[in-house]
This record gives sequence, structure tokens and C-alpha cells, in this order.
Amino acid sequence: MELLRLDGERLTLVLALEESGAADLAYIGPRLPGDEDLAMIAAAGARGRHESQPDSPPRPGLFPERKGGWNGTPAVVLRRAGRRVETDLRIAAWERAERALAIRFADRLAGVEVLLRWRFGAGDVVTSAVTIANTGEAPLAVERCAALALPVPARFAEVTAFAGRWAAEMREHRRPIRPEGLHREGAAGKPGFDGAGWVLLHAGDETLGAHLAWSGDAWLTLDADPPGGADGRAQLVTGAALNPGEVVLAPGETFDTPEAVLALAPDRSALAQAFHAHVRAEVLPERATWGPRKVHLNSWEALGFDLSEPALIALAESAAALGAERFVLDDGWFGGRRSDRTSLGDWTVSPEVFPNGLAPLIARVHALGMDFGLWVEPEMVSPDSDLYRAHPDWCLHTPGRERPTMRGQLALDMARGEVRDYLFARLDALLRKHPIAYLKWDHNRDLFPAAPGQTEGFYALLDALRAAHPHVEIESCASGGGRIDFGVLQRTCRVWPSDNNDAIERLRIIPAWSQFLPLEVLGSHVGPSPNPITGRRLAMDFRAKVAMFGHMGVEADPARMTGRERETLAAHIALYKAWRPVLHSGDLHRLAHPDPAVTAMMVTHEGRALVLVAQTAFSSMFDAAPIRLAGLDPAARYRVRLPEPWPPRAQHYLADPDLWREGLVLSGAALMTHGLALPLTHPETAWLVALERLAP
Ligand code: DGJ
Repeated sequence: MELLRLDGERLTLVLALEESGAADLAYIGPRLPGDEDLAMIAAAGARGRHESQPDSPPRPGLFPERKGGWNGTPAVVLRRAGRRVETDLRIAAWERAERALAIRFADRLAGVEVLLRWRFGAGDVVTSAVTIANTGEAPLAVERCAALALPVPARFAEVTAFAGRWAAEMREHRRPIRPEGLHREGAAGKPGFDGAGWVLLHAGDETLGAHLAWSGDAWLTLDADPPGGADGRAQLVTGAALNPGEVVLAPGETFDTPEAVLALAPDRSALAQAFHAHVRAEVLPERATWGPRKVHLNSWEALGFDLSEPALIALAESAAALGAERFVLDDGWFGGRRSDRTSLGDWTVSPEVFPNGLAPLIARVHALGMDFGLWVEPEMVSPDSDLYRAHPDWCLHTPGRERPTMRGQLALDMARGEVRDYLFARLDALLRKHPIAYLKWDHNRDLFPAAPGQTEGFYALLDALRAAHPHVEIESCASGGGRIDFGVLQRTCRVWPSDNNDAIERLRIIPAWSQFLPLEVLGSHVGPSPNPITGRRLAMDFRAKVAMFGHMGVEADPARMTGRERETLAAHIALYKAWRPVLHSGDLHRLAHPDPAVTAMMVTHEGRALVLVAQTAFSSMFDAAPIRLAGLDPAARYRVRLPEPWPPRAQHYLADPDLWREGLVLSGAALMTHGLALPLTHPETAWLVALERLAP
């Protein structure tokens, strides 16, 4: 047996290449000492045979197959001429680099080869991808091919999967890994609000996270110790869901899976930091060249479809007065789109709304010192549209059957070249004619009937537009967070985490997404009160503080706010501008608190830190327990202030306001163990805490 060791900064993987031709994971965990005897590691984890197991108990390893008695989820399902191909893939060659390993498995009899590539990247995130080749003489149908198969060390006893719906994305469900395991599979043609492509495994605080970087459907299976090959380890397998007949390889052809990623860290904050490092360095397009994330004002919750040039100019003027830096014109600007029942596909400026075209609005936005963004939903068509009347066959449909709509719309078949050419021509013309800095790219219908090639078609269109207009920033929105994944983030600069701007809901939604995504890509808007989705009324101070932890914006009409509310909002926008270099480059820490109604997080960066502490429900105590900080240098001293404005009611409970204004000076050790006692009695109270490290 060959034992190969791959080291990241803080992690070690030990891979076992066995005589039998199988590859397994002998160790994954904190970095091992340089002189660790790998043979001893393998021996310490080896298992004998049990009753009623095959005589050579099969191990699923890094690419499980249904062979030799293994009866868990296989990494591949293949067919030739309708018959299942049972593979017996064995290592044919392998190649290692310093932080990467590629293993080629071959089965000459079945005519199949598999190349598995594992690589350590930024943040110690491991990427895994597979290429499968048809080396036989007849076509090979690939029904399933995993991007990652991970033997899960037995210390991981719990799993967090995600559920969700529109306006309530990514609800975490943590539970023991049960004997029956877990299976998730998307069918909406996009990741959806409930992320089948995201999972966490827990061994106490130690957390392993995995994700499939793919904007279509994903499947994920966690087999808990299948009896045929039981060795106490669960098996996590994930890949893109393929439609029947979608991948049929002619002799000599290959198929590449998307990448899957996995990371392992001592706790959830460290795991978030690992994923953020990966996303910043390896996923986001040219992240290092980005300027500050501009404050948006988006027209949707201010005006809806009630658009006119004067109303939009008035909105832009009030946006600029608050300190907004980008004005985004949302839905309703094109064709006959006066409601959500019509005109998708007709991507020309509506003369009814803009008798003078878009130019005067954009000129005014620019004169106010903002840049201009525009909403589009390219992959859709309304039955009531010129596009549909001209090309009724361009949408996903089954000939002879009904064409059920969702939000009154159908989805275009993005696998068709002429559909992509049409969309490119329309969007390219808009971007050539107008100085548009930003596109909010929406997607409000699931893809049914299912059809192959939709995600590839979407990527091809996005890639062509980005190549033609490299300076246009693009946001991925799908009725909120319906299409968020590392695949789309390779092509976009921001996602819309939820249509739900209610700050209390956001206190759950932002921590859920930020487990994987850094704050600078998570759109975070101050919405109206009452909130149009939840009906909740929340004070501006609370809404604005919560919205600062993300890519901040406003999605409400300032004209409908009181003067005091506008002042409060403008003050928080100014604070956001001062703190975004920290929020958008730093390390995110999720702060624990004994009161479940308190949500707290902080970002540390180069000696500065900003903390958000938010209380949502009435506290049973006069004051919540002190909030204990994280990520500081225990030996360093920090000046600690509470940036103003302060929450109007809670500030009366500050024992010594002047001292807080001047700033307390405390060591990192005291801040992380003793903590800070903040007035958190009333529901809907939030505090910001600012820290500056003092020179020694
Ligand atoms: C759904 C998006 O999530 C909203 O933000 C908004 O852009 C609407 N579509 C517009 O129709």
C-alpha cells in the first residue's frame, strides 16, 4: 500500500493507494507532525471482517462502486445499450504535486476510465473533480457521476442540511447522522432556496463543510455505514443531477463533473473563514481588483411597477441625498411590462414609461454621483410577449402538452444556440447603448419540464456577455436566493440572498449564507416598514445596523420615511462606508450567546473589528449576558467604542455613555473571556461595537 500525505496550512490528508487498486482516505484532520508514521495511521484505522460480510470487505473509498459487495451509493451509474455497466475500476496511475493528487482508475473490460483530482487551495479548501472517459467501443450513457466521494471519519456524528422556501432561504436542520442516512436531490433546474448542494458535518465544534459548485440541480447522499462495507464511516457523495440521455459518451469522449469543495475547521467561524478565503482567491472574478462595494438604492420595494421618468428621478435624488452610490432600476422598464404577467423577452426600453428613452434618467443618476444598474431576467419568456409570439417553440415544453407557467412565465431553452444568440444580441445592444455598470440578473421560474444543457447554456451566455463587457458587474438573483453557488459566483460579483428584507429574518438568513460566502457578495438592503413580506414594523436604527453586515443598500422609498429615519439611515450608510474595508476583507466570527434571541457576529481585519449584536425578542433578564468577542490578539489592547447613532431606547440603559464615547481600553483576552455588557432588553435592539488595536 502506498500512503500519500497532502498538507495544507492547517490540515493534513493521508490517502491510501491500496494493492487491490482502490484509493481511500486514511486521515483527514488537523495537520499532523512532520514525522508522523503514516503506516501507523493506516493501521490504527484498519478494520477486520465481520460476520455476514463479503470475505474481502469492500471499502467505498474515494470512488465507491457497486462491486465486491459494496451496497451503498455508487459514485457512477453507467449504461451501455440500456444495460447497467458494473465497473471494477482500479488505480492505473497517479500523479502528485505538492498540494494536489490525481488518480487515474481504469476498467479495461468495461471500457471506462476515471480521473479523480483533489487539490488543496486557498483557505485549505479541498476541491475535487472527476473526468470520466469512454474507452470502450460503444456509446456509454452516464446517468450519475459524483464530483466528490468522501469517507467521513467516524467522529462526525451530526449533519446540518438546509431546507427553505421563497423568502425563507437556507433553514438549518442539525441532527444526528441516522442509520438511514440522508439523501437530497434538487429538481428545480437551479440550486433553489434549500441548497441540496450545501452540507455541514459536525464532530462537536469541529465542522466539515461541503458544496457542489454548480448552478443546476445537485444530489447529495450521506450513507451511514452501509452493511456491505461497514467500517464505521459514513460516506458523503455529491454531484450534478443529470437528465436521462443528457450525457452519452461516444467512444473516446469524456465528461467533466463540476468541482465540489470541502473544508474542515475547528469550529464554524474557522470554517466560514476557510470558505471565504477560497471564494475571495479562487472563485470570484478578479476579486483583488474590486473597488469598494457601492451602496445601492434599488427601485423594487420603492416603486414596484409604478415607474415613470419623474418618479425615478425623484427616487434617484433622494437616494443620492442618503449617500447611495448606485441606482438600480429593477423590473418594469421594458416592453409592455407593467405587471409580472407580461413581456419577458422583449428587452427594449418601454416608450410608454420612458418617452425620452433611458438616457435622461441615467444622465441624472450620473450627475448625482451614482452609477446605474439595471434588472434583467434573460432566461425567461412571458406567453404575452413579442418574443413568444415570434418563437413559441423557444421555451421549455413537451410537444402536445400544456405549458404550465410560474409567475406567469415560461423558461427559454438555454441549450439552443439561437436562444442564446437572441439574448446576447438584446443585452449586448443595451450595454452598448447605455452606460450600465451593473446588471441584476433574475430567474423567477423553476425549469420544467426538465431539459438537458440549461446550466451550460446559462454559463455560456453569461461568459459571452462578460467577455464583451468586462466592466459590468452582475448579481445573481432568483426570487431571492434561488441560484446561489460557487459556479455562478465564478461569473458574478454578488448574490441576492433573499427577497425578505425584514431585519429579523435577515439575522437568520445572513449567518446561514455567510457560513459559505463572504459578506461583500451578500446583498443586504434596508427595506420599508412595515415589511411587505412579513408585515413587521422595525425601527430604522435596527434595520440599518443589520443591513450593514453585507453589501449594503436601500430598497425603500426615502420619501416615505420620516426626516429622523432618513437621518438615521444616512448615518449608517456613512458608517458602512467607513467600515466596509473591514467588513469586506476581514475574518468573520460567529459569536455565541446564551440567549437564543441574541444574534452576534464580528469581522476582524488588520487591527480593526466591527461587531453587530442584535436582540430580537424581549429578554427575560434586565440585560442579556455580556457578549464575548472572538478573533482578537489576547495580549493586544483595543480601544472599544459604540459607534453612534445608538439604538434610541436602549441607550438610556448605558451606565456611562461618556465613557463609551471616549472608548474603553481592554485587552483581547478580557474582551474574549469577560466580554462587554450591552443594554439588550427590548426586542429589536442592535448595537455596533468598534474596536481599534492600540500600538504596543
Ligand atoms: C424577484 C427578485 O428577487 C426581486 O428582488 C425583484 O427583482 C423582482 N423579482 C422583480 O420582478
